[in-house]
Parts: sequence; structure tokens; C-alpha cells
Amino acid sequence: MADINALIEKMTLEEKAALCTGASSWTTTPIERLGIPEMLVSDGPHGVRRLADVNSLGSDSLPATAFPTASALASTWDVDLVRELGEALGEEAIALNVDVLLGPGNNMKRTPLCGRNFEYFSEDPFLAGELAASLINGIQSKGVGTSLKHYAANNQEYQRFMMSATIDERTLREIYLPAFETAVKKGKPWTVMCAYNKINGTYGSENRELLTDILKGEWGFDGLVVSDWGAVHDRVAALKAGLDWQMPGPREMEVQAVIEAVRNGSLPEVQLNEAVHRILNIVFKAAETPKGGTFDVEAHHALARKISAESVVLLKNDGVLPLTNHQHIAVIGRSAREAHFQGGGSSHINPTKVSVPYKELQGLAGNAELTYAEGYPKDDSYQPAMIDEAVKLAQGADVALLYIALPSFKEAEGYDRPDLDLTEQQVALIKAVSKVQPKTVVVLNNGAPVDMRAWIGDVAAVVECWMMGQAGGGAIADVLFGKVNPSGRLAETFPMRLADTPAYTNYPGENGEVRYGEGLFIGYRWYDAREIPVQFPFGFGLSYTTFKFSNPKVSSKQFKDTDGITVSVDETNTGKVAGKEVVQVYVHDHKSKLVRPQKELKGFAKVELQPGETKTVTIALDFRSFAYYDPAYKQWVTEDGDFDILIGSSSADICLTETVTLASSLTLPVLLNRESTIRDWQNDPKGREIFRSTYELAERLMRSDKGDDSEDDSFIGMDITKFLEEMPPLSILRFHESKLPKSADEIVDDLLKEVHGK
Ligand code: BGC
Repeated sequence: MADINALIEKMTLEEKAALCTGASSWTTTPIERLGIPEMLVSDGPHGVRRLADVNSLGSDSLPATAFPTASALASTWDVDLVRELGEALGEEAIALNVDVLLGPGNNMKRTPLCGRNFEYFSEDPFLAGELAASLINGIQSKGVGTSLKHYAANNQEYQRFMMSATIDERTLREIYLPAFETAVKKGKPWTVMCAYNKINGTYGSENRELLTDILKGEWGFDGLVVSDWGAVHDRVAALKAGLDWQMPGPREMEVQAVIEAVRNGSLPEVQLNEAVHRILNIVFKAAETPKGGTFDVEAHHALARKISAESVVLLKNDGVLPLTNHQHIAVIGRSAREAHFQGGGSSHINPTKVSVPYKELQGLAGNAELTYAEGYPKDDSYQPAMIDEAVKLAQGADVALLYIALPSFKEAEGYDRPDLDLTEQQVALIKAVSKVQPKTVVVLNNGAPVDMRAWIGDVAAVVECWMMGQAGGGAIADVLFGKVNPSGRLAETFPMRLADTPAYTNYPGENGEVRYGEGLFIGYRWYDAREIPVQFPFGFGLSYTTFKFSNPKVSSKQFKDTDGITVSVDETNTGKVAGKEVVQVYVHDHKSKLVRPQKELKGFAKVELQPGETKTVTIALDFRSFAYYDPAYKQWVTEDGDFDILIGSSSADICLTETVTLASSLTLPVLLNRESTIRDWQNDPKGREIFRSTYELAERLMRSDKGDDSEDDSFIGMDITKFLEEMPPLSILRFHESKLPKSADEIVDDLLKEVHGK
């Protein structure tokens, strides 16, 4: 490794400034005289989009494997498989001379309308964090870097370049940051990409709190921060906030602005040096991995098929699947011939090859006869003749497979979805076909949930296949014919309808601001709290076999927060075929000072079981599994008390519960002040003692106001004790100032001095 400090000493101001902005759309600025090489980055995240021309942002990318996108990946709930994918991506990056792959995307799914949700993992920060860390570790194990993006709160595409997400501190810490935090701490990505949008009024690229204080400071991120492409507005302000590398380049004006700022003293050179140091560190690290060669196209296509099959979520099955002994299978829907396997935008891959779903069915259908009708057009038009043709085909068949893909004019990077609906033609098609064919199976290709209310009751099965990657056509056939037993589980809730969703009344924002009014309550946290029925809950997915959980154990019923506990449970395959089940562990806090979601996912494991086989699964829970972030203390807090450990196969199917008691190791500072209420004083262990005699005084004074000496607890119809709880001591004492030995202010100030030990 080069001596970076020595190099920085030798660099001119101009060279430093130039290094902090790209030389092209995808490369750093090399400095030949000092032996500083160029570094090349490429999208990402679920395939390598290496453009042939580094000055192009377009679609001339070299062939690479298009793997399933993040919503599909997340549905595998399989960290090992995700790591394996990462390794394959690393190999392709090397073959295509790519130093850093721009991914994974790790934003939370706040609303299913976000057009880019297909590139994100989950509505749950724990699940998303674990999966992102695994993908990063896989890619980086090959000596190729990653770029964790888009940090942070890029949760909608609508006005993504300027919208400000207004998020309270606790929600930011508990929902929108932890997936990044876990990925940074466990995955150590080489780079982090800032978001386009503003967070609480400040652009992601200029957000010092996020980039410097939290990411680099608290989380110890030692890589470089890169801007999203075109996210920098004020280069100097961005550098000051901790944005090291601006992309894309070249941007001569911005380079000059940096030089000028150093010269006129408004940007300290040490700050520029810090960015240069971070960039050089990664540039030289990247150079250590020799690039070039080839990758195994067939092996990666096979891996893409395996991952895709693992990600399929069987949502409904009245017994029609897996398909057996059918003579005539009607295959309907243009996505059976033209696979819809990826999303539009920067993640768009030029695939090495594409499996045609229809042909893959033919390959596994044996003697069955397959017939095909297109069913719906490419565009938004309504074409009844196509429906009539499909109905005729379905009528004469034993089973109808309806391949329905959500078109890219409804879902892509860059814009949001207008609704959760399929096209009018697709809905009409499903309804018409299922009317004549009771064995209708809907095979969905989409990046996010769709509204199914109009037809789900009429069809025999629904198979969610996501944006499945280039080999997905084969994976669908594998699942439909039972070669693969589906084991995908939803990483996001499928709501009944848009109006039920958490952000519904706070989306898309107005006058440049979107308020995250639902706070902590996104995804299942929302549906749990509001008791809103959903189409399919978070964590849900069917199988061709059945499972049973039994024998739950916790390592200790009473434990110290910092020690954590382990939870174990036996999982048995009670059916007739091999299969995989995901054990999900949620934590429920019995009582807490701040409002908490009913339950939160804190552990999971995917297990493969032969028929009749039982395995014991062990899951560790740590301090953070029980803590919440209290903005009053600016830290993660645990409270003494009981917690339920909920073990289940989805957020709505909890089959076992163990109750444990936590002892907090924290000694929190006293927060009492002049505005604290009597309840605050009584809830504080130190305050309670100190306040006792003042409380008795306040109560006496209040009773004296009654005008009679009855002992009962009411005053003009109010319960005295309850009334007092809501009042600050200062306020109640001020009512009786004339009867006090000293002023109310003095009394309270003395109490505060004592409780704060002054
Ligand atoms: C996207 C990023 C992407 C970059 C480079 C941006 O528009 O938001 O995710 O990595 O372009 O293509």
C-alpha cells in the first residue's frame, strides 16, 4: 500500500481538488506523475452495468448476469445465498475491470408506491441490514468494493432531486438509519453513496450530521463518501459536510470552486486533505485486485436461477400446485414469452442471456401440451380481443398459467407508481380467465406489491416471482412443477389497498417537503398498531410441505441487557417433501416510557428440512434487540422489565412465546428540569426521593382549596392525584405562592440543584 500521507504532501492543491471530483462518468482522476491510478466504478446493484465508454451514462453496457433484484433477494431471507451472489458479482466486476460496484441499495420501503422499491430490500431495518451486510461481504471478499446507497431516506422517487424528508430523530435512528448502520458495521463497504434528497432541510450531499457525525464518527466508517450522480449542489459545502468524492465528472467549475475556497481560507486545507486521504485509500485498495479475465457465464446463469427460485413466494395455493399430470396447459400473458426480469434505470443490465419462461415450461412439461396467448399488450391500451382469445384457450385446458408483469411505465427508477394496480387489461384478463378456468394460476413479475382484491378470490394460486433476473423463467418452471419447493417469504407487507398503507396521508409531500408523520410505524409496525387487515403479512410464504415449531428455550429468563440471550426452537418438517422454513424471532416490550411498535424482528434463520426431520435453530439477541432510541438522552436505551420473545413463521403467525426479564445496565443522567411534571419527578428514581416532601406540600395545598375538610380525593369533580401528575411542580406551587415559605421558583430551583447534585 502506498504511503498516503507522503503522497498528499507531494500533491498540489489543484491535484487534490481534481481528485475529489470524477474524471469521467465512472472514474476517479488519475495522477500519473505520482503513480496514483484511476479507479472505475459501475452500477449495480444486482448485476454489473459496465459501460463500454466511461463518458457515457447510457445503455451501451457490456454483457453481465442480470441477477434477481433486491425485493427478490430479500424474499430468500437467506444470508448465505446473498453472500454467494455477492461473490459472483465480485467475479464479474473483476472480469469487466470494475473496481467498485455501486450497490447495494438499502433504503426502507416506506410506501409501496416508491418506483424504486425493487432495488431495496425491505420495510424492516433488521432484515435489510443483515442482507445488505451479507451482499457487501460477498462482493468485497473478491477484492471489489461496494457503495452502500442511498444514504439516507431516499424513500420515494417523486421529486427525489429536491424533496426534503422531514423525519423526527427517533424515527431516523430506529427506522431509516439502522439498515445502513448494520451494513456499515458488519459489511464495512468501501464507499457509501449519499442520497439526492434533503433530510430535514439539508441535502444528503451536504448533511454533516449524517455524513460526518453519524457515519464517519459514530459508526466508524473509514471508506469514502461518494455523491449520487448529480447530487452535489454546492461542492464546497458538500466537502465541509463530509462528501469526499463528487460524481459524475468532469466538473471543472466545481474543482475550481474548491481551489478558490482553500485559497481564500473558507475551506481549511486539512478538510480537503481528509477527503483526499479517504479517496486515495480506496483507490490504492482497489488497485490491489488484478482485473480482467472472464467469468463463468453458465455457472452464474445457474446461480441466478437458483436465487430466483429461492425468492419465489407462494402466496396462495388451493392445491393446484405443484402441477402434475396435466394434459393441456394454457400459458397466457406476454411476460411468458418476453421475460420481465429487471427494473428500469441505473440498475438495468445487458444480460448474458435470458431464459424465456414459456420455453422453460416446455422443458419441464413432459408430455403435456402447451398453448399460448398473449393476453395483454405492451402498452396501456385495452384490447378485448386479446382477452377473448385467452379465454378460449383457457376454457379448453386443464389449467391456465397467467404470466402477469407490471409494466415499466408503472414501475421504474426515477418516478413513483401512480397506484398499486395492474393495468386495466391485466385485471380484466385475470377475471375473465378465472371465470372459465377454476385452475388459474397467476404468476407475478413486479418489484413491489400490487392490489389483488379484484381477483384473488377467483384464482387457484398466486406465485410472486418479482423482478426475477435473467434466469427467472427457469426458476418459475422449477417452482410450478415442484422441482423446487418454494421457500420465499415476504420481506414487505402486501396491503389490501393503497389507503391502508402507512404513508398514505403523508405522501408524496407538498411544497418540497414530505413529513414522515407515521413515524416509527412503517410496514408491519403500522398494520400491527392500527389492526389493519393485510392481503399478506410480512414474513409470509407458503410451501409444498408443512412445518411445526416446538420446544422453545431461552438461555436465561432473567438477563442483563449487555449479556443478551440466545433463543432456540425446534423446527420439524411435518409434510411429505423436503422444504425450507424461515424461523422469525420478534421482540415485544411489555411496558416502556416511549411508545414502541408491538413487535420488531430481531432474528431469523432459514433452515432446510427433509420430510420428518427436526433441527434446532439458535438465534442470538443482544442489547439492541431490546433497546429503543431515546432522543432525550441521545442514545439507545434499555429499561428494566419483561419482554416477550415471539417465534413464528410470519409477523401475523406467532406460534410460540417466551417471556424474559431484562435488567438494564444503564445509569441514565437525570433529565428533570423546570418543566418536568410531577409524574416525571415520581418516575425518576433519584427525583422521587428528593421530591417527596414537596409533593406532600402540593397535595396539601390543593386539598386546602377544596373549601371543606373531606378526605376524598376529588376537587371540583377531578381526581386530585391524577390532576397533579400532569402538572409541573412550579405551576401548582405558583397557585399558592402566598402560602409558601419561599417563592415557587426558589423551591423548584433548589430541588433541581439537589437532584442534579449541584
Ligand atoms: C442512481 C444511483 C446510481 C447512479 C449512477 C443515480 O441516478 O440514483 O443509484 O448508482 O445514478 O448510475
